[in-house]
Amino acid sequence: MNEVYFYCPTRIYFERNAIEKYLPVIKNYGQRVLIVSGKNFIYKSGLFNKIRNVLENEKIKYSIFSEVEPEPDTDNVEKGVEFCKKENCDVIVAIGGGSALDVGKCIAVRSKNKGNISDYFGEKEYKNEPLPVIAIPTTCGTGSEVTRYAVIVNKSEKTKKTVSNEKIMPKVAILDPNVLEFLPPKLIAATGMDAFSHAVESYLSINSDFFSKLFAIESLKLIKENIKKAVFGDKEAKEKLFIGSIFAGYAINRTGTIIIHGIGYSLTIKYHTHHGTANALFLPYVLEFMKENGYEKEIEEMENIIGPTSELKNFITEIGLPVKLREIGVKKEDIEEIVDLSIKGCERAMKRMKFNLKEEDFLKIITSSY
Ligand SMILES: [Fe+2]
Repeated sequence: MNEVYFYCPTRIYFERNAIEKYLPVIKNYGQRVLIVSGKNFIYKSGLFNKIRNVLENEKIKYSIFSEVEPEPDTDNVEKGVEFCKKENCDVIVAIGGGSALDVGKCIAVRSKNKGNISDYFGEKEYKNEPLPVIAIPTTCGTGSEVTRYAVIVNKSEKTKKTVSNEKIMPKVAILDPNVLEFLPPKLIAATGMDAFSHAVESYLSINSDFFSKLFAIESLKLIKENIKKAVFGDKEAKEKLFIGSIFAGYAINRTGTIIIHGIGYSLTIKYHTHHGTANALFLPYVLEFMKENGYEKEIEEMENIIGPTSELKNFITEIGLPVKLREIGVKKEDIEEIVDLSIKGCERAMKRMKFNLKEEDFLKIITSSY
């Protein structure tokens, strides 16, 4: 058996109304809170009022940075850092999907350390301990509430880059399944499939170990069994999907993701395709390619859990997501650029693969997805 490494310092609270019940724990971590979120969801869903009531009842001071973009870049992070410093905040509450959680983690790093967030891409050491982060995910996909990663668009290089360090793992994650009631079915499907990709990719990563596989397998089972019901509004299925996304987070925290995410980034960079939708679209084609190229045994093992790879496209269509590039408006003449962006996006992923893909391999996968 491979050696095992598992570390998760994040205190998890998972229950209905967990936000009201556990948000007061902020007081254990700082004096002045920076709320980090996107522009719309927390207001439209009534979540902001709920949080404000808790903070005011507990007499906790706070400032709000609700300017996180859907695909945040380095400038977006730096704007938050400036605001955090100006407001003298010493604890971050990040609320939202992966974007808000990841920006929260990056603000935590940069508010205590010099430079620009781009100086911290990869596995860098920090001079000073980042600010503590409390994560409140509002989607069932990211897993960022339990991982050491924050993914940010690097505009100059036209790709997504990862800040990776155990010091940015949230101190507390509050998972209140009530928040999923406001998530549109399309986003349940897309974020759920993001988590599904995390579990698949973790399972296939060369870094996987006994523990990561345990979480990946349980996550695959939970998501496969529940995503369709969750998309159609089943409350209990949404809860299980939420748990499935944390399990996938634990799994990738050990292993990282592989080429599904790396290739998926290309669509997000060029067409602003939702991260989970992009991963779901490429998933069947990447698995078909891997099954024919050195991963036959691993994929057959995984098929015992999720069913035949050949049925994945139907499964994804049934939850309302696209399975072909042309469905999302990609033109044939763009394929070459998508290949280039995918190669860039897979730089880190390649270290977790059994072999390096060549340009012609990317072309094969992307052409078959067209
Ligand atoms: Fe992801």
